[in-house]
Parts: sequence; C-alpha cells; structure tokens
Amino acid sequence: MSQQPVVAVLGLGAMGHAFAANLLKKGFWVRGWNRTRAKGEDLLSAGLTLTDSAAQAVEGADVVIAMLADGATTRQTLADVSRALKQGATVAQMGTIGVDDTDALIAELQQARPDILFIDAPVSGTKAPAENAQILVMASGDRSRAQAAEQVFAAIGKGTQWLGEAGASSRMKLVVNSWLIGLMQSLAESTRLAEQFGFSTDDLWRVLEGGPLAAPYAKAKLAMIESGDFTPQMHLVWALKDAKLALDAAGDTRLPALENIVDVWQQAVDAGHGEQDLAAVYQYLKR
Ligand SMILES: NC(=O)c1ccc[n+]([C@@H]2O[C@H](COP(=O)([O-])OP(=O)(O)OC[C@H]3O[C@@H](n4cnc5c(N)ncnc54)[C@H](OP(=O)(O)O)[C@@H]3O)[C@@H](O)[C@H]2O)c1
Repeated sequence: MSQQPVVAVLGLGAMGHAFAANLLKKGFWVRGWNRTRAKGEDLLSAGLTLTDSAAQAVEGADVVIAMLADGATTRQTLADVSRALKQGATVAQMGTIGVDDTDALIAELQQARPDILFIDAPVSGTKAPAENAQILVMASGDRSRAQAAEQVFAAIGKGTQWLGEAGASSRMKLVVNSWLIGLMQSLAESTRLAEQFGFSTDDLWRVLEGGPLAAPYAKAKLAMIESGDFTPQMHLVWALKDAKLALDAAGDTRLPALENIVDVWQQAVDAGHGEQDLAAVYQYLKR
C-alpha cells in the first residue's frame, strides 16, 4: 500500500461529493461512481477517476466508502461490487441505513468476502460541515485493522468516535437523529407560536442566545426560516426516512413524539416539501 490508501466513493450526492472533494484536496487518489454521472464531473479537474460502474470504481481501492441514499440501494450496490473488491480491502458504510439493513449487510459481506474489513461508519453533520471536513464519524468494527479507514476519516471529518462492534454506530446514528428530528419539529412549532404572539425569529434568537438552549443547529435552522431559503442541507425526505428507521428499530421502547412527527413529516413530504431542507416543516405548518 502506498502511504495514503486509494479510496473509492460510491455515491456522489450531497455528502459523498463532499467526501470525495476533501480527499482529493488532501492528496488521496480517489475513484468515484454515481448513478447520475454528471454529479461527479466537476471533480474530474481535481483528479477524480470517475467510472461508469460501481464495480470499476472499487478496483484497486484500499478503502471503499458507500454513501448512498438508503439500505436497499447500499446492499444492492455492495453486492454488485463484492467480487471486484481488492483482497483485504476495507468497506466503510457511511450512509444512514438503519439497523436491519446494516446487520444484513454485515452478514452478506461476511458470507461473500470474509477477507473484507467492514466498518459501520455513519456520520453526524450535514452538507456544509461535510464540505468543510467538519463531520463526526461514528465508527464501529475491528479498529485494530482499521488504520487505512482512520486515515480516510481524518481527511473528511473533525473526529471519529469508536463505539464497539460493527452495527453499534448505526444504532447510535438513529439515537442522534431522533434527537435532531425532535429539535427541528420543536423549533418549527416554537417559531410559529412566536409569530402568533408577534415576535420575529430574531426576537426568539436574542432571548436564547448565550444561554443553554442556544444550539448552533437551531440558529442555522432559524436563519433558514427567516430567509425562506430551504435549499437542502439535509433533505426532508431523508430525515423522514431516518425517523422511520428509528421507530422500526425501537422495539418496545415508546417514542410517541417521534411517531407523531413521522405522521406530520409524511404529510409535509406528500405536500411537496420532500426535496427541501427539513426546516421546511416550518413552511408546512404555516400553510
Ligand atoms: N445530508 C445530510 O445531512 C446527511 C447527514 C448524515 C447522513 N446522511 C445520509 O447519507 C446518505 C446520503 O445522503 P445525501 O445527503 O448525500 O443524499 P443525496 O444527496 O440525495 O445523495 C443520495 C445518493 O444516493 C444515490 N442513489 C439514490 N438512489 C439510488 C439508486 N436506486 N441506485 C443508485 N444510487 C442511488 C444518489 O444517486 P443520484 O445522484 O443518481 O440520485 C446519490 O449518489 C443518506 O443515507 C443520508 O440519510 C445525510
């Protein structure tokens, strides 16, 4: 292996594109594939090797990142490439695909390619933090063999938290996102109530600012609400997917607020807000 691992990025959407761009900036040799090829073309001048198939992208790669929309797509894509993976390569699954698909993926890869090191590595942070290499990687799997993956994670994020056996991180990711989703819904409702009383988003933020409730995330979402610009950092439709994944995995744990949010956000998606940022739930409440 050369000093830096060769990396393949499967999925050049909002997050995967940012990962590939940061890896290129830091001198990695990056191979990329996206179903819609055009999304990777702007990285050609930065040195990306853009391939027509996922199997071509993983050829010779020491670390393969999967950053695809959902579990079904991820499992199908990794099944398609499994024979082409380099002997002993690392596969880092970084999308939010939930517990059942993660566990199934671990079993499928183990069966097809027992030589492969699988790291379950979803991330916390949206598009802008990804572009600025400021995401947090939640990693689980055999860390003692994960030096190449750690080099890659260091290039695309601000830190890595190791959480135990593969599968643990996908569980923690659902915990984090259920909190984020609750925060977004609560912020949207509080903002509506503030407006009802004649307060602006600025009035609300000025009261929160400096205190323990002033989450930077809330500030960013209030700014979106204020501007009316819901260009997606995180698509509402993917946030709804994550809320459903959390409910699916919750077992006997009661999550009544999350259940209600799934109902409301499904209505917001049906009303056409799915491709907007999740802060667009505010707009849906305002309709
Ligand atoms: N954005 C965030 O804030 C954020 C944060 C943490 C985790 N995540 C998770 O990371 C994953 C990617 O998110 P993203 O924001 O990058 O989403 P995105 O911009 O919508 O990108 C989705 C990617 O999946 C591909 N894809 C979708 N359906 C496919 C199919 N049937 N076959 C092949 N490829 C397919 C897309 O290809 P095309 O370009 O051809 O459509 C694209 O590469 C998701 O699991 C998301 O929940 C997102």
